[in-house]
Amino acid sequence: MPTVHFRGKEIECREGATLRDVLLDADLTPHNGKATVFNCRGFGNCGTCAVKVDGEVSDKGIREKGRLLVPPHHPNYDLRLACQTKVMGDVTVEKYPGMWGTQVAKDPLPPLADDAEGESPEDAPTADAGDEPTPGDAEDDPTPADAD
Ligand code: FES
Repeated sequence: MPTVHFRGKEIECREGATLRDVLLDADLTPHNGKATVFNCRGFGNCGTCAVKVDGEVSDKGIREKGRLLVPPHHPNYDLRLACQTKVMGDVTVEKYPGMWGTQVAKDPLPPLADDAEGESPEDAPTADAGDEPTPGDAEDDPTPADAD
């Protein structure tokens, strides 16, 4: 039975299980910040479940390859979409900061505390300013009420 190592946790799963499902079933997540809620639910479209995987997993399919070509992803990042990746043996999985987890020049997210009560996926670091766009940030936009 394969073991998934993720942020200091070890999760056993059946061979062929989808990595995203394995993490979610263990009350963990491959998503950061708001992507925990705003994601494509495993259809391989949003790209927010991207993780670095070391170990025995399925090959990339056409959908995954295509999504990882679209910014903010880049083929050189060597990431996998957890929702498109099947666990075939023991694997170590790392999640990087940023809405899409694409800030691979930074350190991966640290191990989770054993007593993770009070820590939610929303607490995970998200994009730095200017690195990845976040829609809806209108704080600096003047509104008609502000103008005279
Ligand atoms: S959950 Fe959207 S690409 Fe994996």
